[in-house]
Amino acid sequence: MNSNEALEKRREYLMPCLNHFYQDPPLFVRGEMQYLYDQGGKQYLDFFAGVSVMNCGHSNPFILDRVIAQMRQLQHLSNIYLTGPILALAERLAGIMPGDLHNSFFCMSGSEANEGALLLARLATGKRKFIARRLGLHGRTNLTMAATGLSLWRADPFLPGDFYFADTAEEIEAILQQDEDIAALIVEPIQGNGGIRPAPEGFFQEVLALLHRHGALLIADEVQSGFARTGKMFAIEHYGAAPDLMTMSKALGNGIPIAAFAASAETAARFTRPSASTLGGNPVSATAALAVLDYIEAERLCERAAELGDCLRAGLETLQQGTDLIAEVRGKGLMLGAELALDGEPQPGLTDRVLESLKDRGIILGKNGLHRNVLAFQPPLVINAGDISFLLENLKEALRENRP
Ligand SMILES: Cc1ncc(COP(=O)(O)O)c(C=O)c1O
Repeated sequence: MNSNEALEKRREYLMPCLNHFYQDPPLFVRGEMQYLYDQGGKQYLDFFAGVSVMNCGHSNPFILDRVIAQMRQLQHLSNIYLTGPILALAERLAGIMPGDLHNSFFCMSGSEANEGALLLARLATGKRKFIARRLGLHGRTNLTMAATGLSLWRADPFLPGDFYFADTAEEIEAILQQDEDIAALIVEPIQGNGGIRPAPEGFFQEVLALLHRHGALLIADEVQSGFARTGKMFAIEHYGAAPDLMTMSKALGNGIPIAAFAASAETAARFTRPSASTLGGNPVSATAALAVLDYIEAERLCERAAELGDCLRAGLETLQQGTDLIAEVRGKGLMLGAELALDGEPQPGLTDRVLESLKDRGIILGKNGLHRNVLAFQPPLVINAGDISFLLENLKEALRENRP
């Protein structure tokens, strides 16, 4: 099968809601750490990591060996039976999550983890409604789509009206004062799809005090920012704050589907009505997650993301000084964004052309933001300084060649 045949099959058999990057997309057949290969054998440096998933690299042998051994030994039973890996993973997470987060519920996707955290917030507070930040993205289920502030990702015309949208502590306080029925605020510490937007400094301390005064909880959505990506295990640690509930997915399994929401023992104690996820945290996905955590620690990926992130940011800021096309460089660690605009006008067309020419030059970059004009740099954390130089040289050329 070549790319054209793959596009035709995609059109024929997948739902048309599913979009793809690139006019002329490669058909990928293989991955190896920070590199991808298409069916013609061409190598690409991956700077998007399958949307911030492959933090430990594609087909990482250290992780694969452990997953394959587990698959040969015991693959699936569901959590109505006793098995070891899910318990080892829950204990391990309790040791690394911020604050007093202690008990986990394992499921399959970021949407499902957020849906569960919203449910637990309702059960724990006895309240119904929520606050979310504008430009946030929390998932595709009914409640998490309602929590999503980006209109692009709100496909359902009949979403429940249980959400207020607010950005600042002042706006959040005003809502809490006028409506006593708020169970939680859900926030990405660094908005991913919204265009790599870190929450303002001091935001979490301020809103935690407000929320707790009004009997409401803070849910940190670390689905995209978690597991060393930002230079710390979880992005909220940059703010010196700990949430009441936290959700995780993507990089936790490094490509094996797993997600979780977690709470303190006290909050978790309110979740007693039966709930279960058939595949959530099964022996294979829990083993993958344990191997991921071992690899992050052994290879010091938090430190690596922080150091390489500084190097990439410095390079992007130098590029910014030499062009009028980059309005802002934002983010933390290896979760960085460069917003493309010209004379104050967002440049989604330019963003697409830059992505296309970088792809032709052998680099896969992401894009996001309200206007789809933010270049997203979220590579596997195993890249090296040479990869960053290669990206920066080519990005400079791609911007120059595609200037409107
Ligand atoms: C911050 C955040 N939360 C939730 C989700 C939804 O995760 P999933 O696609 O695994 O359901 C995403 C997906 O991109 C995300 O970036």
